[in-house]
Amino acid sequence: ATDLTGRHFLKELDFSPEEFRHLIDLAAELKVAKKAGAEQQRLRGRTIALVFEKTSTRTRCAFEVAAADQGAGTTYLDPGGSQLGHKESVRDTARVLGRMYDGIEYRGSGQAVVEELAAYAGVPVYNGLTDDWHPTQMLADVLTMTEHCAKPLDGTAYAYLGDARNNMGNSYLVTGALLGMDVRIVAPRVLWPEEAVVAQARALAGRTGARISLTEDVEEGVRAADFVATDVWVSMGEPKEVWDERIALLRPYSVTMDVLRATGNPDVKFLHCLPAFHDLGTAVGREIHARHGLDSLEVTDEVFESAEHSVVFDEAENRMHTIKAVLVATLAR
Ligand code: CP
Ligand code: NVA
Repeated sequence: ATDLTGRHFLKELDFSPEEFRHLIDLAAELKVAKKAGAEQQRLRGRTIALVFEKTSTRTRCAFEVAAADQGAGTTYLDPGGSQLGHKESVRDTARVLGRMYDGIEYRGSGQAVVEELAAYAGVPVYNGLTDDWHPTQMLADVLTMTEHCAKPLDGTAYAYLGDARNNMGNSYLVTGALLGMDVRIVAPRVLWPEEAVVAQARALAGRTGARISLTEDVEEGVRAADFVATDVWVSMGEPKEVWDERIALLRPYSVTMDVLRATGNPDVKFLHCLPAFHDLGTAVGREIHARHGLDSLEVTDEVFESAEHSVVFDEAENRMHTIKAVLVATLAR
């Protein structure tokens, strides 16, 4: 049987296909149990530190609700709300939190920071997003795919459109490779994942039978896909000035109804990790609307709100069930 007790959750590449699938299966079980009112608390008396150097809605709430459901306590440290990064080193912070907590979640820019926390904490460390990877998001996306497509994972195809030189692009490429899936990265070449990541994914695919393609051509990239996914065009931590250049590069990669039709699959589903610029009603959105005259960015409101195609809120809910699976798998007594 798969045993992940005491393990870190830092990036997808650290896991075997069996281990990754074990977390998906456990999440599905925990979801059923919660909905039936039959959840067993396996983390009573445990405590988890939630360290956020970037903002969050889903990831923070998912960790807090998952822990509460399982009987564990949490402490949220907000961006700027601890000594970390200002006057205390990562190593020292890791050793302090490791003395008090049973597990530590970290969200920030540097993958090196979460790796260093893991090296010194002495307790499991969970990556809640870095500039390189968003592995807990991948668990939610794969669980959502299993719920919305009857095919086995190794027969499922997804296309990721937009900024692929970011955490989501890297994570989608490597996760599909790990699980033997058919992965298409659809983006202008300058926004493809870095060559080292592509090489890691290709090496994995050679072992798992995954099919990997990178293309600039939207029609070719989405053909016969079961899922079309996208993400924001400018990520947290990137300077505001990047917007103009990204909009110019990525306008042809916006997920529209025409893109969904180009899959040729009437049952195609749409995924987005959120938050999304499907309308420009937020403060950042209004600025972009005023400057560029656009009504949406990476996905149109029509696709986002489409009852037949959009599964983004199932995906968001699944953040909680899958993060709960990570906590239970690594910390349950
Ligand atoms: N998808 C995601 O990670 O959302 P948050 O930034 O709100 O946590
Ligand atoms: N690429 C996005 C993902 C947000 C969940 C970011 O890093 O801001």
